[in-house]
Amino acid sequence: MATTAPQRPQVRTSPTAYEALKSHFEKHPEERPQHSHKWDVSRSDIYFEDKWQPIFAEMQEAGPLHYIPESPYGPYWAVVGHKAIQHIEALPETFSSSWEHGGITILERLSEEETAASGADTRELPMFIAMDRPQHTGQRRTVAPKFTPSGMKDMEPQIRKRTGELLDTLPRGEVFDWVDTVSIELTTGMLALLFGFPWEDRRMLTFWSDWSGDTELATVRELDEMRWEFLHEMGAYFQSLWMERTMDKEPGDDLISMMIHSEAMNQMRPEEFMGNLILLIVGGNDTTRNSMSGFIHALDKFPDQRKLFEENADIIPNAVQEMLRVQTPLAHMRRTCTEDTEVMGQTIKKGDKVVLWYLAANHEESVFEEPHKLDLTRANAKRHIAFGYGIHRCVGARLAELQLRVLLEEMHKRRMRVHVAGDVERVRANFVHGFRKLEVEITEF
Ligand code: HEM
Repeated sequence: MATTAPQRPQVRTSPTAYEALKSHFEKHPEERPQHSHKWDVSRSDIYFEDKWQPIFAEMQEAGPLHYIPESPYGPYWAVVGHKAIQHIEALPETFSSSWEHGGITILERLSEEETAASGADTRELPMFIAMDRPQHTGQRRTVAPKFTPSGMKDMEPQIRKRTGELLDTLPRGEVFDWVDTVSIELTTGMLALLFGFPWEDRRMLTFWSDWSGDTELATVRELDEMRWEFLHEMGAYFQSLWMERTMDKEPGDDLISMMIHSEAMNQMRPEEFMGNLILLIVGGNDTTRNSMSGFIHALDKFPDQRKLFEENADIIPNAVQEMLRVQTPLAHMRRTCTEDTEVMGQTIKKGDKVVLWYLAANHEESVFEEPHKLDLTRANAKRHIAFGYGIHRCVGARLAELQLRVLLEEMHKRRMRVHVAGDVERVRANFVHGFRKLEVEITEF
């Protein structure tokens, strides 16, 4: 009997996570998270309004880590020092990433009662970013070969071609939204290449990523059910791709095929498969997207640096690092302490939530002089920890750097100057740090 590939399941693409959350808080303003502690940096308004700088500076002045006894996410340690974050990330046994303790964002793990009360199917989604050794090691090793220098060499021509083609379609003398037209388009395209994802459906990656990566949305119980429905649709869609790939005579070199043919990953339970896909989608999506928007915003804000970039393309590799430092597309990661321990004079207790604020560390004055200034020739720009540190350091860092370098090189080739020329709206979140809208206009230099 001939085997045919299964039909891809129907999936929905609305409402977006942004629309759902906005409309929920319009109906229930009293449910907006309340923050009483002056150093509770989990409040999303400081990122939305771009006013986190003096708060982190004040905290750093007082010390590298502080206990915040009260927040909508429960009590937590706010780690704001560059050295302290590296110290903690270098001790993965003491500071666990495991989803069993609550994983890698500031979110509280739901209690059994809350799970039952929500009425939604809120099973945990294990993913290797939220696992400790030894499980983490095997799963990371499966996908890592896709991101080696030689893997990047293979991908560069495709990325360059697509980037160039997109830049050539951009309107001149007309205001348009850089986030939607360029950042989202290039990022989802790159992920589609990586997964061998159907090109015509690539925008679904953005839709699903937005629904799974928003920490504020995940606190709204009323939206649990909808969120889980979308994630299940995503799971079913990927499951059908998985089935198609298992029927391929020759194994492909896309990430799904690599998972299928790996010992560490081919026995994954459906939730684990889904969890790891979300990881790769969110991991690669919001982050790269927001760097691309952040880069344009930063160049516009510092015209002297834009001039430097225009005069000398050789500074592009360092410029990529500096712009990553300034933007820091993920504001934090979280760990949970597994035994009483001391860090830089503070006692952290077993079970304590420890939140590592990369955004603060990348703007610490004692490490980066004039930290809020974009300096494309900054000698130590590479010391940023926007990709994290230690065993969980971003596995996709080389791919992200490649995309960003190619974008700047292709803009330079076309003598493209991008001005902010309209609305600028930032993301209202304490995890993803970026732009929802960035209206621009293109001229030439
Ligand atoms: C500018 C873009 C990016 C930024 C800023 C970024 C940032 C991060 C950060 C902060 C971590 C956690 C590190 C830690 O805990 O120490 C991480 C992990 C990870 N990232 Fe990225 N990322 C980016 C792009 C990508 C891309 C393009 C992919 C893949 C498509 C990706 C996939 C992952 C994965 C799979 C992990 C988990 C690694 C592990 O647990 O071993 N990221 N990333």
